[in-house]
Amino acid sequence: MNRPGILVTGGTGYIGSHTTVELIKAGYHVVIIDNLSNSNVAVLDGIEAITGVRPDFVEADCTDIKALRALFEQYTDIKGIINFAASKAVGESVQKPLLYYRNNLNTLMNLLECMSEYKVDGIVFSSSCTVYGEPDDNPVTENSPIKPATSPYGNTKQISEEIIEDVIHSGAPFKSVILRYFNPVGAHPSALIGELPNGVPQNLIPYLTQTAIGIRKELAVFGDDYNTPDGSCIRDFINVVDLAKAHVTAVERLIEDKCATPVEIFNLGTGNGVSVLELINTFEEATGVKVPYRIAPRREGDIEKVWANPTHANEVLGWVADTPLADTMRSAWKWQLALREKGIM
Ligand code: NAD
Ligand code: WQD
Repeated sequence: MNRPGILVTGGTGYIGSHTTVELIKAGYHVVIIDNLSNSNVAVLDGIEAITGVRPDFVEADCTDIKALRALFEQYTDIKGIINFAASKAVGESVQKPLLYYRNNLNTLMNLLECMSEYKVDGIVFSSSCTVYGEPDDNPVTENSPIKPATSPYGNTKQISEEIIEDVIHSGAPFKSVILRYFNPVGAHPSALIGELPNGVPQNLIPYLTQTAIGIRKELAVFGDDYNTPDGSCIRDFINVVDLAKAHVTAVERLIEDKCATPVEIFNLGTGNGVSVLELINTFEEATGVKVPYRIAPRREGDIEKVWANPTHANEVLGWVADTPLADTMRSAWKWQLALREKGIM
């Protein structure tokens, strides 16, 4: 099958690498652009080991429009873009807001500009459940209110969604699918690719697996006095391979002109709210490995509870996140063990 080219920005990153695997499996020609600011070029070896195909790789920065133009001149078969490239650390964004606004927004605007110039049919954009803030009701649907952003990072997602809407409604000759991820976790079951956190992890699962393997002394559970059944926060943890698969369907809708509206928005979650303490318990039961933890004070800015109503994605994309959480926890653990074996961590 001769399928068109898909440009995956941030394709050596966590979600981008898993999506590249699924795109290659579906027969697409994948071109990755990544500046390696938060990933390693060795990820390409993992992708090749899983799929037997090495994606084309351009080491460049998406904020450099000349580099983007050169890429489109070279790869003339690109019909779709999946834009993962962004800076994503919430805390860092509070310290360095300009870095976040510049990187995340200039990346998107450059891509949108090139799309008209090079006749690209559509762009899939990585948004986040962070746009819902602390929801009034759970689960959240795509029509739940957007709340004021609580960090510059979150604000870049809200502004990016608005930029896409404005550009497309101005008559741009392309469409967009905006995907709002909940909490992506786990790794490819082969343990050949996974999440590579930089420094001390801020997110729950990498901190948990690093604690389980002994790199960290104990996991701090941020708060057990929330208004939830066990007092810890509730999230919708979605398996990264399930998440990756939704991108294949999304980009297909764009390049096969199947979108119902010029901008489509989907929540990508499981529909199940799981508490932090429940997650630790699931990890321990699934792997047989104990996680030393203590209850710590609440983390500033944390949302008490948020989980998705994924019905829209289930019905329109024909996509379901159905990997059992225990399998996802085993994949995260296997990946942590692989990192140790490779001497990376
Ligand atoms: P990641 O950091 O692993 O991947 C992002 C990749 O983009 C990295 O490889 C980085 O080197 C690259 N990059 C960053 N800026 C770039 C630039 N200007 N030019 C070229 N490459 C650049 O992050 P991820 O977890 O895979 O997230 C992917 C996307 O999904 C991001 O947009 C993120 O905001 C969004 N998202 C992530 C989560 C999550 O919890 N992981 C949740 C919701 C949304
Ligand atoms: C999950 C839960 C913590 C670490 C962030 C971004 C969000 C989105 C996903 C990109 C919370 C608790 C965590 C720890 C803990 N990213 N926790 N001890 O905060 O839901 O979302 O990533 O768009 O925008 O804000 O994810 O993994 O940091 O935390 O108790 O050491 O785990 O309090 O309740 P979060 P997380």
